[in-house]
Amino acid sequence: MAKIIGGVTTSHIPAIANAMANGLEETPYWKPFFDGYPPVRDWLNEQKPDVIILFYNDHGLEFFIDKKPTFAMGVADEYYNSDEGWGIPTIPPVTGESELSWHIANSLVEDGFDMTICQEMKVDHGLTVPLNLMWPGHNYGHVKVIPVCINCEQHPMPQPKRTLALGQAIGRAVESFDDDLKVVVFGTGGMSHQLDGERAGFINRAFDIECLDKLVSDPESLTKYSNYDLVELGGAQAVELNMLIAMRGALLGEVTELHRNYHAPISNTGSGLMLLENK
Ligand SMILES: [Fe+2]
Repeated sequence: MAKIIGGVTTSHIPAIANAMANGLEETPYWKPFFDGYPPVRDWLNEQKPDVIILFYNDHGLEFFIDKKPTFAMGVADEYYNSDEGWGIPTIPPVTGESELSWHIANSLVEDGFDMTICQEMKVDHGLTVPLNLMWPGHNYGHVKVIPVCINCEQHPMPQPKRTLALGQAIGRAVESFDDDLKVVVFGTGGMSHQLDGERAGFINRAFDIECLDKLVSDPESLTKYSNYDLVELGGAQAVELNMLIAMRGALLGEVTELHRNYHAPISNTGSGLMLLENK
């Protein structure tokens, strides 16, 4: 049977890709951010997951504001990146896991989640930055990736209660797949940040840390928040916390926090790196 062995939260800001491409990891600005990653990389290299299910939001590369699926997922054997206009180097193709993807897609629709199912899907920095953070130098060709997009770009957006339920449904789907696969779930994005408007640069460290604590021990309590609450407490783009909540939903076992590194601000965001084991 397939098993979800753990979950990871990480930032996916485009500036990370540029910092890595330009070798800035040891500079005073970036060091406190990148110093958090080696323990997570070591754990992934020890555990050797076969598949990463990766929650992110598409920032306009595949789904522009004229067509915004609330929930979308890929079922392809391969995914391509292309120029996003952030100056980020375009990366090699990402390997998919079509069989498990279709199993999850069927299970989700039967479970009441009307996914947009994508047989072709360009993947943006929301997906590529976390993979490169975990396997620098784009050395993730050995891992199969299933992209799951949650709309955090344009209202109306799914609420935390719904994204936690989506994660739980994905957890059930994976656990009902016959092949022996080790799966890790990534929830990428956030945490508090506002990129424009009167509160541009807004960060709420206390709220971010409270969210990380609750992701470990009491994820249901985060469903009391609406997306408007997230905007008020964490800034306009804090709705990206939904990806972290969805990741936690997929961990149906006993969860232990193995590692955490919170750093803010980095590129005007609160960055929450956390590794959770799922038994
Ligand atoms: Fe984002």
